[in-house]
Amino acid sequence: MSVVALGISPTMCKRIEQHRGTRAVTPVVGDMTVIDVDGSFDLVYSTTSTLFSLLTQQQQIDCFTSMARVLTEEGTVVVEAFVPLRQCAVLNRQNVALRAFDTDRVDILATMHDPVSQRITFRELRMADGQPAAVLPADIRYIWPSELDLMAQLAGLTLVNRYGGWDKRPYEASCPRHVSVYGRP
Ligand SMILES: C[S@@+](CC[C@H](N)C(=O)[O-])C[C@H]1O[C@@H](n2cnc3c(N)ncnc32)[C@H](O)[C@@H]1O
Repeated sequence: MSVVALGISPTMCKRIEQHRGTRAVTPVVGDMTVIDVDGSFDLVYSTTSTLFSLLTQQQQIDCFTSMARVLTEEGTVVVEAFVPLRQCAVLNRQNVALRAFDTDRVDILATMHDPVSQRITFRELRMADGQPAAVLPADIRYIWPSELDLMAQLAGLTLVNRYGGWDKRPYEASCPRHVSVYGRP
């Protein structure tokens, strides 16, 4: 079995190259809204809410359409992502949380939520004794599972199964994440 690992960051792709050992993983630097790779695949997967890294609905639809384009006729697209219930409950649309607290270190996570654009902006402030303070930014646009199913439909795919985790537990209202399986109708 051969695997292509697509990522926009050349540094991350270099890391895959360094750690792949004897495994047949080919890192490719590229944009997941386009997926410019050769061949077609039985399985295309996007895990750890990576689809949320795309910051507009159109980019997310483009990504789904590209995943469908490189899929074999019988192939499967699998998307793992968090269900944004907890994140959307952010009080006054903003939140500050202490992530780490020690004698020589404090990490603070500041979060802003815009329910109109479905965007959440994270800024992690790291302060450690003897080191310059650093701000680590991360922006996402979350997708509700129902919206994801419509994106799949636009790409010519349909939901085959939805689980509450990789162990295939049933997807229920309390599930913080979902693993959704799509195929051609
Ligand atoms: C949440 S991380 C996923 C990490 C990986 N799935 C894992 O489990 O370790 C999101 C990744 O998506 C990459 N990324 C962001 N925008 C991208 C794009 N337009 N095309 C391809 N990769 C992108 C980032 O560089 C980052 O490595």
